[in-house]
Amino acid sequence: MLLLHLSDVDEASWADKLAAALAPYPVVRRGDAFDPAEVHYVFVWKPKPEAFDGLTGLKAILSLGAGVDALLKHPKLPDVPVVRFVDADLSQRMSDYVVAQVTMHHRLYTRFRADQKARRWSQLYPPAASETSVGIMGMGVLGQDAAKRLLPLGFTLRSWSRTPKALEGVEGFAGDAQFDAFLSGTDILVNLLPLTPGTTGILNYETFGKLRRKLDGGPVIVNAARGGHQKEADIVRALGDGTLGAASLDVFETEPLPPDSPLWDIENCYITPHIAAISDEKSGVSYYAGIIRDHEAGKPLPNVVDRQRGY
Ligand code: NDP
Ligand code: OXD
Repeated sequence: MLLLHLSDVDEASWADKLAAALAPYPVVRRGDAFDPAEVHYVFVWKPKPEAFDGLTGLKAILSLGAGVDALLKHPKLPDVPVVRFVDADLSQRMSDYVVAQVTMHHRLYTRFRADQKARRWSQLYPPAASETSVGIMGMGVLGQDAAKRLLPLGFTLRSWSRTPKALEGVEGFAGDAQFDAFLSGTDILVNLLPLTPGTTGILNYETFGKLRRKLDGGPVIVNAARGGHQKEADIVRALGDGTLGAASLDVFETEPLPPDSPLWDIENCYITPHIAAISDEKSGVSYYAGIIRDHEAGKPLPNVVDRQRGY
């Protein structure tokens, strides 16, 4: 039996589609009458504290999110495999966001918008894409997809990951020892890391100060991963004193971003409300129905989170 426990999304719709895809395999929601001991899979997003109570026959936890940082902190998380969302549609959506932000900053959008506001005709030619270095932090599913889509646009690319990664056309850096070297050649820093104890607060003033200062206006950060990666007070300071030229932020320390956050009023801060990418219902149903079917047929679970690593 599959149990859905999804908050902040249309759980009924997901349940209908999963039931149709898995029929006759039983699919239930929280309010339904069922024996919790018969639940073998639980599909979760922002699970409540009691989400796993009584689920004594659980084989796997299926996460609607690609990021599992919050799920792994659940105080009663059962000791069964956690499968995370990995999907071409999600990757495409995230890369759409990354490409939009990178190209916007590369073409000096902040400067020309200010010029327009001031009715100022000031010809400054942006660099060629090849003269702009984009540094991607996190070379997993999303980082690699973003790199593959930025490469044909001509950008100079570099990446940073925990272990070395070789992607043609991308200069790879790995581990804490190579972090500063990675930053020192980066004009636009894109964050696609998972949130773990090792990556919390990595977007801070010291990091910003190590970026290359070649792009007109100063280096730029793009954070599409988690709010816990960034120190917002440091971003405010860096945008104010020119350490950063601009920031595109999709995620925040507190979500929704509180109305009194100073970030709202900063001209060169581009805010979106955690919409960079969404787990699409159609591909999500196909992904998880396939996983349940395969697992019931004896195949191993894919994309299982390594709890030790935290991602
Ligand atoms: P993956 O697990 O596939 O990739 C993670 C990458 O980060 C890997 O390259 C890994 O290194 C690297 N990494 C992890 N820890 C460190 C570290 N301490 N130092 C250096 N590199 C590190 O994740 P995804 O690409 O699928 O997703 C990334 C994140 O994006 C998610 O965790 C989620 O938080 C966020 N996200 C945000 C969305 C949004 O709408 N804003 C939507 C979807 C996801 P290695 O290769 O060596 O393992
Ligand atoms: C995710 C997200 O992790 O939407 O999938 O943030």
